[in-house]
Amino acid sequence: TPEKEPLKPGDILVYAQGGGKPKPIRPEELKPGDPFVLAYPMDPKTKVVKSGEAKNTVLVVRYTPDELSPETAQNGVEGIVAYSAVCTHLGCIVSQWVADKKAGLCPCHGGIYDLARGARVIAGPPPRPLPQLPLKVEEGVLVAAGEFLGEVGVKAEAGFCRHV
Ligand code: FES
Repeated sequence: TPEKEPLKPGDILVYAQGGGKPKPIRPEELKPGDPFVLAYPMDPKTKVVKSGEAKNTVLVVRYTPDELSPETAQNGVEGIVAYSAVCTHLGCIVSQWVADKKAGLCPCHGGIYDLARGARVIAGPPPRPLPQLPLKVEEGVLVAAGEFLGEVGVKAEAGFCRHV
């Protein structure tokens, strides 16, 4: 089904919550220091929101430019950065904001990701960062500028089962 298609460069990011008509994310709606928002990609032609596949879940957050590491800033736009929201530990959704660390928390086992610095792991069991999603602004809304910069979710490794 089209809702399960993978994210593609050029997809428009829309708010995951809210119901009703899909609402594209406008940069000015995000403020530095605010919690991240969860988003799904929307096909720009068909307007289908690809919410049927958990691996399409993206988190979007804004920092002041000086808070971001250079590599992270490079793939963002105006201090706004996006990552896969699928925890690299066992695949839960990174859904909570840790205000004092300005970081993302996976509620399943307490994994915490530093979203200003490439989503490096600063606490808990995740084995690797969340892959970043390059962003651009087109016609006033956030758009995926490329593929995820790394494998989304749990990596299959020799000797382990793959959780999907
Ligand atoms: Fe996220 Fe375990 S699934 S910390």
